[in-house]
Amino acid sequence: MTNVVVVGSQWGDEGKGKIVDWLSERADIVVRFQGGHNAGHTLVIDGVSYKLSLLPSGIVRPGKIAVIGNGVVLDPHALLAEIEKLGAQGVKVTPENLRVADNATLILSLHRELDGMREDAASNSGTKIGTTRRGIGPAYEDKVGRRAIRVMDLADMETLPGKVDRILTHHNALRRGLGEKEVSHEAIMQELTSIADRVLPFRETVWELLDKQRRKGARILFEGAQGSLLDIDHGTYPFVTSSNTVAGQASAGSGMGPGALGYILGITKAYTTRVGEGPFPTELKDEIGQFLGEKGHEFGTVTGRKRRCGWFDAALVRQSVATNGITGIALTKLDVLDGLDELKICVGYMLDGEQIDHLPASQGAQARVEPVYVTLEGWKESTVGARSWADLPAQAIKYVRQVEELIGAPVALLSTSPERDDTILVTDPFED
Ligand code: IMP
Repeated sequence: MTNVVVVGSQWGDEGKGKIVDWLSERADIVVRFQGGHNAGHTLVIDGVSYKLSLLPSGIVRPGKIAVIGNGVVLDPHALLAEIEKLGAQGVKVTPENLRVADNATLILSLHRELDGMREDAASNSGTKIGTTRRGIGPAYEDKVGRRAIRVMDLADMETLPGKVDRILTHHNALRRGLGEKEVSHEAIMQELTSIADRVLPFRETVWELLDKQRRKGARILFEGAQGSLLDIDHGTYPFVTSSNTVAGQASAGSGMGPGALGYILGITKAYTTRVGEGPFPTELKDEIGQFLGEKGHEFGTVTGRKRRCGWFDAALVRQSVATNGITGIALTKLDVLDGLDELKICVGYMLDGEQIDHLPASQGAQARVEPVYVTLEGWKESTVGARSWADLPAQAIKYVRQVEELIGAPVALLSTSPERDDTILVTDPFED
């Protein structure tokens, strides 16, 4: 028995929701360790659909503890709205089943506003990132700049005004520079005092809770958001999110030491998608890209934006296997490839006349690479709902084996439809 870390191995939207839900049923504790309400997934349980952005998915299952770790940037308004929405669906969120790290950073309205102002300003110069405009980046900047307001600060009305002054000195200088209205000290104090009483009951010393639970033998599931190629260090910078999304962050973003993390499961889509700007070497702007987008319902759950689609990029996922230490992958959405005559997998790139086996870190080189493909025969049969290898056409098995070989990691789970039970289980990550 072990703990499990789930990460996306591409640019997010790999289909983590279904797999995390399947695993959260087996877990005692589910922990978010990075990102914020820029994530979005839908859980379908007994025919009821729950949309979560900030809360860990264990929240919808009775008897589990959901934890928001210190690595998360927490918008208290989004948190309270999500709690209310779940309440209306009959899911009670209380300090019994939700714990929020007292050292987690808060996203305030000024962060959301700054995210939007900067994206608008960058749109005019063609340099926008295409963020979710939720204030994620500005909140992480304040955390690293040591001027953030954290959950526990809401309980200390003596030091809070000084902290508000400090954050405003920075933000008002930026706002003046952008030609925007300044924010007053009173407005931020009012914002903070209006949510303090409703957020503070959830506060917890998370590192201690996890340490105690680990020693008791609890099964802990770490739920990553976004994907490894959006990682602030290892992703396609600057077209990335502002947190470390790789598995190592499960430790730093929760306070549980890395030795106890256990199985690293990389959720991997059988093709590639990306939302927002940035390099995407295997992008298909033709009718096959259109086919993948329509058949795969590739629209963002948070922003509703259309996702860009392309062939599977084994060179990039191989990099994710290395940077995360992925033990095994959950391969999702194989059925979207049903019916294509042939399939391509990117195995490396041509850069200035030379073949290379990984995407270079430089933005200029990333824009110049041309993918090198292997081509495989497609299959005409449907793989929807397959629950054993015997249900899959030979060509589909060949595709999966080729993926495993090229990325250097085995398939632990193969998902063949959004339904929970339409999964081929090779290895149960909690039992590995
Ligand atoms: P931010 O996280 O809002 O700052 O956005 C930065 C980049 O990450 C943008 O390209 C977003 O589209 C992308 N992004 C953020 N969250 C997600 C996610 O949950 N899935 C996919 N892309 C995401």
